[in-house]
Amino acid sequence: MKRTFVAACFTVAALCLMMGGSQSASAKELSGQLEIFSWWAGDEGPALQALIDLYKKENAKVEVVNATVTGGSGVNAKAVLKTRMLGGEPPDSFQVHAGQELIGTWVKADRMEDLTFLFKEQGWMDAFPKGLVTLIGTDTGIWSVPVNIHRSNVNWYVPANLEKWGVMAPKTWDDFFAIAPKLKEKGVVPLALAQNWTANHLWESVALASLGPQNWDALWSGSLAFDSPEGVKAWELFGKVLEFTNDDASSLSWQQATDMVVDGRAAFNVMGDWAAGYMSTTKKLAPGSGFGWAASPGTGGHFMFLADSFGLPQGAPNRDNVLAWLTLLGSKEGSDAFNPLKGSISARTDSDLAKYNDYAKSASADFGKDVIVGSLAHGVTANEGFMNDFASVMEMFLKSRNAAAAGKAAQQIAAKNGIGK
Ligand code: GAL
Repeated sequence: MKRTFVAACFTVAALCLMMGGSQSASAKELSGQLEIFSWWAGDEGPALQALIDLYKKENAKVEVVNATVTGGSGVNAKAVLKTRMLGGEPPDSFQVHAGQELIGTWVKADRMEDLTFLFKEQGWMDAFPKGLVTLIGTDTGIWSVPVNIHRSNVNWYVPANLEKWGVMAPKTWDDFFAIAPKLKEKGVVPLALAQNWTANHLWESVALASLGPQNWDALWSGSLAFDSPEGVKAWELFGKVLEFTNDDASSLSWQQATDMVVDGRAAFNVMGDWAAGYMSTTKKLAPGSGFGWAASPGTGGHFMFLADSFGLPQGAPNRDNVLAWLTLLGSKEGSDAFNPLKGSISARTDSDLAKYNDYAKSASADFGKDVIVGSLAHGVTANEGFMNDFASVMEMFLKSRNAAAAGKAAQQIAAKNGIGK
């Protein structure tokens, strides 16, 4: 009798685990609302929708409110989120980058719930790479659930167009400077660029090429100053690269810059691999033939990464519904439904690569062997305070092209925002 009871208990526990439900969330049938806040609107939406569909399958009675604020890299969403968080009206769960965007902002302000219990319950301490868990954790807790790994330093092109123009994807910026004038003569924009944040995005790839991974890391640990000769050199190279970009950049979205490459108006675009998601999921182009990719010039063998994650803000109106949402995000099933559409790879170490396209397979292979560094433009290396100020430094540089002044200004905002402290 006793044995049967014990066995039955184990069976229930095992069933709970198999269904992927957290102890706290699966005890009762969930109802009410779940508001998910992100910047994955429009073209960026299909991968998120796949997760919402899975969630609805398990929790038919929950009304999911998909609250999006459009604008790549969260330029607009983060401002709205800040108002809501500070006004005591947090969404149930919100998108936030793993790293300083999470830790240096919302964790520091004590606005998040510790999710260590969920990580333990779901076996995630072993399912995610240790380095990633470190990035979303502090001494006192683990603060979000990662849904992906994106690569920031990718150069996109259309193979048939490069062939037509008689050029190859540049391995270094010098290679690029050698072919860029030829492209210009043909009426082709050498490098497509979009609004301000995409300049930050390009900057980090150029800076990585100029500094190398060690000095890139040194900027964020505080052991190399932005106004050091190395730091200023990165701005100089960036200024040279900008000479080969389109004049209307500031009015374009990142998708419109990708479109320039797809339509043959531009040769290259340095963008994160959500561009692979856009080109394969929305534009239905085949990776390899419809679009091609290479590490951005001078960064071969280096993988500049970022990870989107979702957390549980303190005071979330529908806590149980959020726990079920987070449980799905961290699961293998959720991850392998989301990432093949998104252009990213799974943050889990056990993903089913058969579900991914050739681009993602190559990204996954690179992630396994490259030198890994964190992205600035997407929240890994610096807090929101620095990022906001950096946007102003970038504005100034785009107008003045003064590398020494930009290095100096960047050093000032690093000190102000406690970078390397
Ligand atoms: C990044 C985000 C990606 C993608 C991109 C463009 O910050 O991590 O998932 O959404 O912005 O909006």
